[in-house]
Amino acid sequence: MSETKAKKYFDLAKKWLAKAATSSDVELLKETLRYHEWKYYVENDPVLSDYEYDQLYNQLKTIEEADPQLITPDSPTQRVASDFTQDLDPVKHLVPMLSLDNSYNDEDLKKFDEQIKKLTGETGDIEYCVEPKFDGGSIAVVYEDDQLVRAATRGNGAQGEEMTLNAKTLPSLPLNAPFSSLGIKTAEIRGEGVIRKDIFAKLNEARALEGKTLFANPRNSATGGLRMKDPNETRARGIEVFAFQLGYAVAEDGTDMLQMINRHSQQIALLGELGFKIPSDKEVVCKNIDEVITLIKQWEADRENYPYEIDGVVVKVNRRALQEICGSTQHHPRWAIAFKFKAKQATTTLVDVEYQIGKIGSITPVAKVLPVHLAGVTVSSISLHNEEFITSKDLRIGDQVVIERAGDVIPYIVKSLADLRTGDEEPIVFPKECPSCSTELVKEDEMQAAWRCINPECPAQILQRIIFHVSKAAMDIDGFGRANVERFAELGWLRDISDVYDLDYETIAGLDGFGQKSADKLQSSIEKAKQNPISKLLHSLSIHHLGKKASKLIAEHIDHVLDLANWSEEDFLSIKDIGPVVARNVSAYFAEAANVEMLQRMESLGVNLTQTEEDRPIAVADNAPLRDKTILFTGSLQKMTRGEAKKKAEAAGAKAISAVSGNLNILVVGEKAGSKLKKAEAIGTVEIWTEDQFLEILGEL
Ligand code: IVH
Repeated sequence: MSETKAKKYFDLAKKWLAKAATSSDVELLKETLRYHEWKYYVENDPVLSDYEYDQLYNQLKTIEEADPQLITPDSPTQRVASDFTQDLDPVKHLVPMLSLDNSYNDEDLKKFDEQIKKLTGETGDIEYCVEPKFDGGSIAVVYEDDQLVRAATRGNGAQGEEMTLNAKTLPSLPLNAPFSSLGIKTAEIRGEGVIRKDIFAKLNEARALEGKTLFANPRNSATGGLRMKDPNETRARGIEVFAFQLGYAVAEDGTDMLQMINRHSQQIALLGELGFKIPSDKEVVCKNIDEVITLIKQWEADRENYPYEIDGVVVKVNRRALQEICGSTQHHPRWAIAFKFKAKQATTTLVDVEYQIGKIGSITPVAKVLPVHLAGVTVSSISLHNEEFITSKDLRIGDQVVIERAGDVIPYIVKSLADLRTGDEEPIVFPKECPSCSTELVKEDEMQAAWRCINPECPAQILQRIIFHVSKAAMDIDGFGRANVERFAELGWLRDISDVYDLDYETIAGLDGFGQKSADKLQSSIEKAKQNPISKLLHSLSIHHLGKKASKLIAEHIDHVLDLANWSEEDFLSIKDIGPVVARNVSAYFAEAANVEMLQRMESLGVNLTQTEEDRPIAVADNAPLRDKTILFTGSLQKMTRGEAKKKAEAAGAKAISAVSGNLNILVVGEKAGSKLKKAEAIGTVEIWTEDQFLEILGEL
């Protein structure tokens, strides 16, 4: 596609997004939509966000509705998008897989509700079922005599691509489901294959290590994963399938069994009972549209905390009888609507790149972009991770870039829009020297992605180490945030970590914006931190590769932190679970006289360097009640927090794990336990305890 065409359709889109197109624009608008569809479906390289595309699509629909003569067979409104490739066999769905109409605000939802009332003649409240709108790839799975016999992608809605072998690798899809117990011979369930955000992050971490290009978001890797040629590759993606509809269910004698299920919420519950993964902790029945609107607001606010990527919710008329009256258009059911959350993608200009120096000297390039709104926040800085990231995305200063917040709250650059370049863009030149101390940057080995400054005296690094030292994750000094560290360092009060414990609180009280009260508060937080266990102190020193867990393991084996000055690498390696990298780095740290002196100074200022009770390993007695058991807590506990419960369990010899599997021995269920309980029950070997039973076994009840 030529450069001019790309620019033309980008500019037109932006123009109409600012001021809606009119009927005289109709042909050009269709062309523009077709171009952007092609970028999305064929090139897999969208220029517009989904939200922007939908807005243009709706403009076309409005124009066509006002003057139906403008509708042509090739209008983007006249077809359902397809995701075909050449390689998988086409199959026809038992009933077409429709898509959903979209809504974006309260008003749209109220209109939808009015429309339902009009269609059904109902005058009272309409009951709705609200579900997450999963952002992945949809599939249809056919069961014949309880056996999974065929699975297909959605394709164009009428026909999909067969991917039965791939589907069979997905652990969340039962290979056999007891439909016959309900009198159903043939069934087709519809669901969405998605990748949990944390699994997605791990997938990308692994790819980064192997030097592969990273997936842009969980959706792409899920849709791609469903259509792999090699089923093993599908399995490796960690895709889970959420069932959201029983599309077809027929008895031996041809009776339509869907008729027997009066409500959509019952249908979903039934699918859960049959062994499918359902959004049990999210799917909710609302009495009327006002309840729906309130609920959606809560979900949108809580969106980042949900373990799966969701781009909105789906509102469905709950009563089947009413669904039937409403019926469907060619494209979507009239009884359901998707509510799209605010856009998580935007385009902006990359204006500059700055280089941040981390606490162990890693240099992170950070893009400065023109401030842009993205899913409720203004973004102006975005991490570019490392040099390789910049090169692989071919980013240049002055580029238009697509940015996204997906998977987590951190925004990132998806790509630059090379088609829109004017020629004035400039390459990004990664520095050869540390921007703070001018030491030549190095890569310790080929596998490392980051360039590092290895000067231990580098002022920028020291500052970062102090910021980390006082942070919640390390010594947890309340009231001593980044801003105060920077301010005190500028005043020359913080040259290294030990200076934190030698501050002059009287002078601090006299600083602008401080006063006696805040100075006293800071002093008492620092005094408290001096008593921290040495495992915390070790972790707070920013020793390369020394994390929380390894710090704890080392602390268990020493009486005093400075004992480590006499340890060899072999001594560290003799601790179970300490590897050569940690051994090398920690022993190098303590071989440095300056570090030992700094710790001695800290001790003389009152910082605890001696092993305390908290550092000692929990001795598990042979007769500990939960010795060698694995345990998991689910639902909301009433008598203790999750953290407390885990600690109690560990003290009683159990190992707390995070997922239900065949390895789980005990599941403790609090209130509103959801899918974990169902799964554990399905496994059959998991002991299911109430909170009281748990406390009773520990002798605490
Ligand atoms: S119901 C007849 N429910 O959204 C009803 N769809 O734009 C059609 N999707 O192709 C679908 N979560 O892949 C439904 N809870 C949910 C959904 C959902 C995600 C996807 C599905 C569908 C697309 C429609």
